[in-house]
Amino acid sequence: MNKITLIQPDDWHVHFRDGDILKTVVPETDKNFGKCIVMPNLVPPIINGQMANEYKKRISKFLKNNLNLLMTIYLTENLKKHTLINAYKTKQVFAVKLYPLGATTNSENGIKDVENIIEILSTMEENDIPLLIHGEDTNPEIDIFDREKSFLDKVLTKITQNFPKLRITLEHITTKEAVQFILSSKNVVGSITPHHLASNRNEMLVGGIRPHLYCLPILKRDIHQQELIKIAISGNKKFFLGTDSAPHEIKLKENECGCAGVFNAPYSLQIITQIFDNHNALNKLENFVSINGTKHYKLPNNKKKVSLKKFKNPIKFNDYLGSKIKFKIYKPQFSIFWDYDNK
Ligand code: NCD
Ligand code: ZN
Repeated sequence: MNKITLIQPDDWHVHFRDGDILKTVVPETDKNFGKCIVMPNLVPPIINGQMANEYKKRISKFLKNNLNLLMTIYLTENLKKHTLINAYKTKQVFAVKLYPLGATTNSENGIKDVENIIEILSTMEENDIPLLIHGEDTNPEIDIFDREKSFLDKVLTKITQNFPKLRITLEHITTKEAVQFILSSKNVVGSITPHHLASNRNEMLVGGIRPHLYCLPILKRDIHQQELIKIAISGNKKFFLGTDSAPHEIKLKENECGCAGVFNAPYSLQIITQIFDNHNALNKLENFVSINGTKHYKLPNNKKKVSLKKFKNPIKFNDYLGSKIKFKIYKPQFSIFWDYDNK
């Protein structure tokens, strides 16, 4: 197959940041996707409907297409029931994001102990408000490569037992254990990033340290990458694309203590298409990028269609985006032959 036409894809997890950066970053997602879930981990974080709405307006200034911005609220232990209900019922926020305290970029206001948010989780279950989780156990004794698994065992099992109807997305999954957990649970689905499908920890660490591949949850070993690919290309409806495109200025990545985050928005779709092609699974691509997430979030499919074409020669990636403030664009080690047909 040399050409494929899809319902326009969605990105179920993206970071736009704020201020000047928006004009560089937002158009990349706007070009490629129909709907997106916007992460709230700004400084300070988005903690109520009004903040979400103001942030949405700032992002909207840079939209040329009809990208549907689905805003989120950052779950803190101080979030009040009425604040959440009000933000949700007025459609200022679409979902709630749970960061364990200290798990990742800007998670200083995250959750120390799930016991402290029982009431909010119960309110969310009652009102069918989606919960998006960064699933890592941040206990300092836990090895960084085991953080996701430990979170499943110690925290997520408890949440799913206590709230069997809460609609949960385990975001940017990285392990075979996460795949298993989702397959055996009734109310948890998973998003997967392009870089966790396309790269593993060897690519980040062998022959030199590549800071632009550093993200959280951290890239794992090859066997986990293979499980993620296997489940993504299966078309299973519990799994869908969330790019976790997370730009950081180059000097903050190439740093003695570099930030976590991979900026992949510009070519995420081309990369994913290549992976599906490499595994003879182009017939399941639309499920993964356009249908499964939409269904989980109870939204309509995008009306627009997009076509990708397989070119003879690998496409040339731009290395960087931005002029004054520059971002390194994610590129996997293998060649990508797929690009939009209208180019
Ligand atoms: C994200 C960021 O930079 O905001 N970083 C990352 O490594 N993925 C935060 C997150 O989603 O963990
Ligand atoms: Zn993220």
